[in-house]
Amino acid sequence: MEQSFNPSKNMYFPSKEIIKKANVNDYESLYAKSVKDREGFWAAEARKLDWYKKWEKLLDDSQKPFYRWFTGGKFNIIHNALDRHQKNATRNKLAIIWEGEPGDVRTFSYHALNREVTRFSNVLKAMGARKGEVVTIYMPQIPELVVAMLACAKIGAPHSVVYGGFSVEALAERIEDARSRILLTADGGFRRGKPTQLKKIANEAMQRSATIEVCITVKRTGEECYMENDRDFWYHDLMGMPIANSGCCTEQTDAEDPLFILYTSGTTGKPKGLVHTHAGYAVYTSTTYNYVFDIKPEDRWWCAADPGWITGHSYIVYTPLINGATVMMYEGAPNHPYPNRWWQIIEKYGINILYTSPTAIRGLMRFGASWADRHNLSSLRLLGSVGEPINPEAWKWYYEVIGKSRCPIMDTWWQTETGGFMITPLPIMPLKPGSAAKPFFGNEVAIVDEQGVEVKQGEEGNLIIKNPWPGMARTILGDPHRFVEKYWEKYSKQGWYLAGDSARIDEDGYYWIIGRIDDVIKVSGYRLGSAEIESALVSHPAVSEAAAIGLPDELRGNIIHATVILRQNITASPALAEELKMHVEKEIGPIARPAFVEFAESLPKTRSGKIMRRVLKARALGQETGDLSTLEE
Ligand code: PRX
Repeated sequence: MEQSFNPSKNMYFPSKEIIKKANVNDYESLYAKSVKDREGFWAAEARKLDWYKKWEKLLDDSQKPFYRWFTGGKFNIIHNALDRHQKNATRNKLAIIWEGEPGDVRTFSYHALNREVTRFSNVLKAMGARKGEVVTIYMPQIPELVVAMLACAKIGAPHSVVYGGFSVEALAERIEDARSRILLTADGGFRRGKPTQLKKIANEAMQRSATIEVCITVKRTGEECYMENDRDFWYHDLMGMPIANSGCCTEQTDAEDPLFILYTSGTTGKPKGLVHTHAGYAVYTSTTYNYVFDIKPEDRWWCAADPGWITGHSYIVYTPLINGATVMMYEGAPNHPYPNRWWQIIEKYGINILYTSPTAIRGLMRFGASWADRHNLSSLRLLGSVGEPINPEAWKWYYEVIGKSRCPIMDTWWQTETGGFMITPLPIMPLKPGSAAKPFFGNEVAIVDEQGVEVKQGEEGNLIIKNPWPGMARTILGDPHRFVEKYWEKYSKQGWYLAGDSARIDEDGYYWIIGRIDDVIKVSGYRLGSAEIESALVSHPAVSEAAAIGLPDELRGNIIHATVILRQNITASPALAEELKMHVEKEIGPIARPAFVEFAESLPKTRSGKIMRRVLKARALGQETGDLSTLEE
């Protein structure tokens, strides 16, 4: 049944069918209740999961902003995502349907996934993995990536997944920061018909950061790769050892024990290793998933992100399994071999919910509706979007061409730091294309000025969150001071969380996210810091200084523009610009490759020596440069 549209408000209303099915049918009253008695709300949600031992204190705020949730409780996310399903009919259900880019297919029932995870947990322990020690995972999107994450969680070893699209320096830096002794990787994966060279990159990264003692490699592409004696082992060899088949009990972790570290880019310096914990993260994300995507036992769910980012951690790996859903995973590019690949997958497997990014939608929209029109997409019930603001044109295309004007789009705003959705529609809500709608249960969100005063309706300001929530990151690994400084210092008087985004609220209380207020650059929804790109450029022998900014791009949201000052006696040339682009690609990864490299004699700086990226951006866009009173030269 089609949804109805109100043109004067530009609002899309849900159909009766969607409303009837919804897991929540009155947002306003449940929201009011959830903020009035936040602890009561989260306690009720937490009771829906299985605990080894119930918590003693729901929220410990004695050391703000280092909030602790469910303290005294014993809880392991794996007990909820796998173990408990083995006792009922879910054990026979498909947990994962995986399709490789070349078209190979593998499926895992909950029973089979649990068996594989248990076997790999034994291997990890035999190879020296220990509770509390970070294991780094650098893999393509293959089932073993999920198995590796789950096995680490099972034994209480926090994982640090480094996105398979990252390259040498990005990987080396993350290994070193986490002081990982164990690295899990693969020879490569398939992307646009070609094998990628993950092990080769991993080898170079291990040379740069000397902490890795054991590296386990999954054979995926069969490409030859260098294996070092006593350090490198094949996954299949280890899984073939008798020890893999012994039993392995899930570690009875404390509620606040770290589940994973996930690195994300900030404004300055090295990427930050955000720490998420077993219980709070599980409670928060599974609640958001259940209410926002209306999950039903028969659903086939497809979050077309990569597990290497927070979206994949929360909504490919952990929450769908906690909720007993069937997860679709696809290894490769959306347009390989043709731009109908995704639509073909939806038809072939009968996918009910698709969750993806505006960049992916815009990318597929380019090829026109005919690629989607040749497939039966009637299994779809709900759609989702994440990672960057979705422009109304892409929203409408997604809604009409893919969802056939039947499927509400959940435009979810959140961050690596938040663990799960923070501002989001629910299926029962009227939708406005481009707006992430309203705060999720328990959250009080506001738009404020520099002093913390709420701005007027319709005006732009800083997005802040007034309360703690169970899924929040607990700290930055090894740098609690930076955690305070980045997120809590600006509004320390009020105790609010600074999200780093600007936004506005309209007359209906709908939130519109505008973009980052700092130097974080979102390229195709991927988060990169200007500082990382700049330090990659400066690591090239020809470069003395560099500044990177994001410029608007119709397809990718932003593209990177780099301004470079060369060392003495080095001559600028188009060939050198190309070489520098390649250098960034090799150090950080293809997503960080600058679209433009321009050479300059100097960079605009403040008297205290900070690069004024605002000035560079205005100049690149041909706009007024604004107030230059702090400019040194
Ligand atoms: O700027 C916001 C944007 O993505 C940032 C967080 O990036 P990351 O930690 O990589 O997490 C992305 C996936 C959760 C935010 O600060 N962002 C995320 N979702 C949206 C968004 N911007 C607008 N609309 C969204 N739905």
